[in-house]
Amino acid sequence: MKVKAAIHRDFEISKIDDRLYAAFIEHMGRAIYSGIYEPGHPQADGNGFRRDVAAMVRDLNIPAIRYPGGNFVSAYRWEDGIGPKEDRPVRLDLAWRSRETNQVGINEFAIWANELGIDMMLAVNLGSRGIEEARNFMEYVNHPGGTYWSDLRRSHGVEKPYGVKMWCLGNEMDGPWQIGAKPAREYGRLADETAKALRALTPDAEMIVCGSSNDEMPTYPEWERVVLEECYEHVDHISLHKYFGNSSRDTLNFFGKIEETGRYINTIGGVIDFVKSKKRAKNDVHICFDEWNVWYHRREEDGRRWRTWDWPEAPDLLEETYTFEDALFVGGLLNEFIRRSDRVKIACIAQLVNVIAPIRADKNGKAWRQSIYWPYQMASVYGRGTALRVAVDGPKYDCAVASDVDYLDITAVQGAGCVTIFAINRHLRETLDLRLSLTGFKATLDFHKMIGGHDLMATNGPDAEPIAPVDGTGIGVEDGNVVGALPPLSYHVIRLKV
Ligand code: AHR
Repeated sequence: MKVKAAIHRDFEISKIDDRLYAAFIEHMGRAIYSGIYEPGHPQADGNGFRRDVAAMVRDLNIPAIRYPGGNFVSAYRWEDGIGPKEDRPVRLDLAWRSRETNQVGINEFAIWANELGIDMMLAVNLGSRGIEEARNFMEYVNHPGGTYWSDLRRSHGVEKPYGVKMWCLGNEMDGPWQIGAKPAREYGRLADETAKALRALTPDAEMIVCGSSNDEMPTYPEWERVVLEECYEHVDHISLHKYFGNSSRDTLNFFGKIEETGRYINTIGGVIDFVKSKKRAKNDVHICFDEWNVWYHRREEDGRRWRTWDWPEAPDLLEETYTFEDALFVGGLLNEFIRRSDRVKIACIAQLVNVIAPIRADKNGKAWRQSIYWPYQMASVYGRGTALRVAVDGPKYDCAVASDVDYLDITAVQGAGCVTIFAINRHLRETLDLRLSLTGFKATLDFHKMIGGHDLMATNGPDAEPIAPVDGTGIGVEDGNVVGALPPLSYHVIRLKV
């Protein structure tokens, strides 16, 4: 099947915010304990963090990480995680029915993140707590010294403040499952006042207010309108969450959910514009897609387990094993974020280690990269710069969730003397013969990597990682066009020097 596409040097979508490739990690399951942190593991460093896991995280080039939750944050007392470890209380985590030892808190997490060059994006508890605890937390984290909370931090051995700029005003506050869930108006007021207090402490901090927990919530998108009407002028981003699955075993429909995500972004973009106009506001509010991933393989089974279990410590929870099909989906979703980089400034893969994660780590055992690690890694490493418009003229399909879906999912990013093409052939059987015309560039091929040739249900594991990029063949630049064959069900990164 033939497919034509075109890009022009001057036809830009937007500068991509590096934080489009951010991540999320929660005190949940084995994400922190025996995920990134496992004192006593043969790979543990002097602080108890696993070097094998850290090396895999480092290769992802993650700009920012959201912490410590998630649902967990809505009943969390951040003060439990500071000071001498032996004095820290063990608490019940109401979100996941688990036991929280508090052996990792803000200072330990900061050591890990700093070591990896990742900025922290901190969530405050607006479920069981409020403005007072949020501003104390920020004072501990960001104030230089000479006050109760900042001097307490210094007494804990952290002389310099962390200067954290990204602050999430609670988590999924519309969700009935959330400790301290609130109606939109009440939450909007609380978010507004919390943002005001936090801005008084750190004027250049960015505030992220909770949108709906997903686009299937009964109050979506009215929730966003009401919340933003209360707090628009004091916030910078509104958060979106969405998890995806293919329980009906319909691959093309699964890929169609990426189009659905485009509609979700459009809707929230419209709500933002509506509220901005209504309030005659001067500031812009962007989208922070701070939880996204595939999550369905173990969802039902886990739901049954954790709701009745007896408060275990760091239990095995949501440890999805990802397939090649999931990797194609994740590559496509990242393409959608690149296409919508005018609106979406931050996006966090949820989560990073063990819990619905690209990296898995066995307790006292090996760590490995799941299939979805690779499209995330390649987008993060090569997808920095400016997103270009790509016009596509090729075969399309209809499915239950979307119509006119292109079999070719393609984006282009320009930066640092290169243009990088991310392309996915979503056709189940047919090769796509691509002819991509380049206007305004003199291009030569730098490299071509591809992931393909696997059974859709193939997976990686601790002993073998068959799903990984390999050097591609058959793509070239001829007369100013990128030409070549993309085999069915394959993911490609084509880097051009321009
Ligand atoms: O990422 C797992 C959970 O999904 C998070 O704790 C919550 O915010 C969302 O519902």
